[in-house]
Amino acid sequence: MRWLPVISPEPQRAAHGATVAASAAPSSEHRGGVEHRVYFEVFGCQMNKLDAELMLGVLDEEGYRLTDDIKEAGVILYNTCAIREQAENKVFSRVGSLRGLKERRPDVVIGVLGCSAQNHRESIFRRYPHVGVVCGPGEFLRLPELIEEAREKGQVAALALETPIRFKRRRNLGPNRYQAFVSVMRGCDMACTYCVVPRTRGPEVSRPVREIVDEARALVDGGVREITLLGQTVNSYGKRLGPGRSIGLQHVFYELNKIRGLERIRFITSHPRFMNPDLIDAMADLEKVCEYLHLPVQSGADSVLWRMRRSHKMDHYRRVVVACRERIPDLGLATDIIVGFSGETEDEFRQTYELMKEMRYQSAFVFRYSERAGTPAAAMPDDVPEEVKRERNQLLLELQKKISLELNQESLGKVTEVLVEGRSKRDASRWSGRTRQHRIVVFPASEGEDLVGRLVSVRVTEATPLTLIGVRQDGAGYS
Ligand code: SAH
Ligand code: SF4
Ligand code: F3S
Repeated sequence: MRWLPVISPEPQRAAHGATVAASAAPSSEHRGGVEHRVYFEVFGCQMNKLDAELMLGVLDEEGYRLTDDIKEAGVILYNTCAIREQAENKVFSRVGSLRGLKERRPDVVIGVLGCSAQNHRESIFRRYPHVGVVCGPGEFLRLPELIEEAREKGQVAALALETPIRFKRRRNLGPNRYQAFVSVMRGCDMACTYCVVPRTRGPEVSRPVREIVDEARALVDGGVREITLLGQTVNSYGKRLGPGRSIGLQHVFYELNKIRGLERIRFITSHPRFMNPDLIDAMADLEKVCEYLHLPVQSGADSVLWRMRRSHKMDHYRRVVVACRERIPDLGLATDIIVGFSGETEDEFRQTYELMKEMRYQSAFVFRYSERAGTPAAAMPDDVPEEVKRERNQLLLELQKKISLELNQESLGKVTEVLVEGRSKRDASRWSGRTRQHRIVVFPASEGEDLVGRLVSVRVTEATPLTLIGVRQDGAGYS
């Protein structure tokens, strides 16, 4: 049996899309019966994917195995995302369609996990009486016991968010054997008016530096060469840790930078408010920290940022970007933007458009505002018509495409360091990997070579908005 969940098309950030590796061998004995066969679909951001990995770890220890055939599963699980209506609708339509299956096979346990579970709580049982487990992002380590309980009692909900999650990572089931995600914190202390995350994931809790470093060491011992640190506001890491000492994300960087065998350190997502000179210095000085910063701006207009309660103004954002680019000249800067937020005028949108021209982002994730029940913005009118949202979205995407192409063309003729991730999905005769700035590079594969997980030098010969195309520099490999 393959140890591979079905990963749904990324509803949020295609560029960070992760799958759970099929390569890891199961660590425990499979208990055999259909009741221990799990079909598992994962939606949402990297944290949800990492949570899914950890859940698979605890299920594996209890003898569960994955199947990608829903018809032969005894347990059907969805790790859900609530960030936009579309993401939620998709998963609930899947859950709704299982009613007949549950009637035919009453022993099947259906679980709704993650952010939408926390968001809708027990009301899910009313809308979908065939659901057996509702489990929020704070209690997923109890999953095996919840499944058992649902078998006995029919329905069980686990929705506490306060308990700190303590786990020992046994294996990397991440995107591939060479890359892993490590959570440095959970939850979010911000209160952006449009956002459901503080409600679904609770307040921010940082993990101790030691715990993160131990986990990273174990992953590197197992072959991992690139670690991406995860947090909703990853650069506010350290709050409430170590009384009397001020601890920041840079302290994690300094420790990880010492680990032999680890080549690259990444971190997502940063909040403009928490960028500070110490962190920027660490990014500039430490050779393993990649020159990539995901710094969502959301809007280029102070008036919109104020309504969003984003807690940064454009003036501050600009100063942060200038400081980062001064210290890290080859920085790849990415952002998130919401178009059509409550009351967004033509002029406010124009300010976002102009900002994009000014910032020249390497990439931008543009979202149409989606009103979420229970958020502060739900009390404001969702008054930008859908077609205007769509039009603004399109204008920004077109502008970004042009800028990405121009930036990629600047790399023509240059040699860049690439961590090879696998064969290109479009063309299996090519390798695909990423630069330190997180740009995708493809180059021809030679027969019989396996470069996955290797750092190689590639000379860029062609550029498209999303991809650099090149040739390997013989004799100039990094490993
Ligand atoms: N914690 C991260 C982002 C988490 S959600 C941060 O603050 O940067 C990822 C992105 O989804 C956000 O940056 C925002 O652009 C978008 N988003 C969040 N809520 C949304 C909503 N209600 N409608 C549309 N986009 C939303
Ligand atoms: Fe949501 Fe804002 Fe927290 Fe990001 S910082 S998760 S957008 S509340
Ligand atoms: Fe979605 Fe929850 Fe992540 S709402 S974006 S899965 S934190």
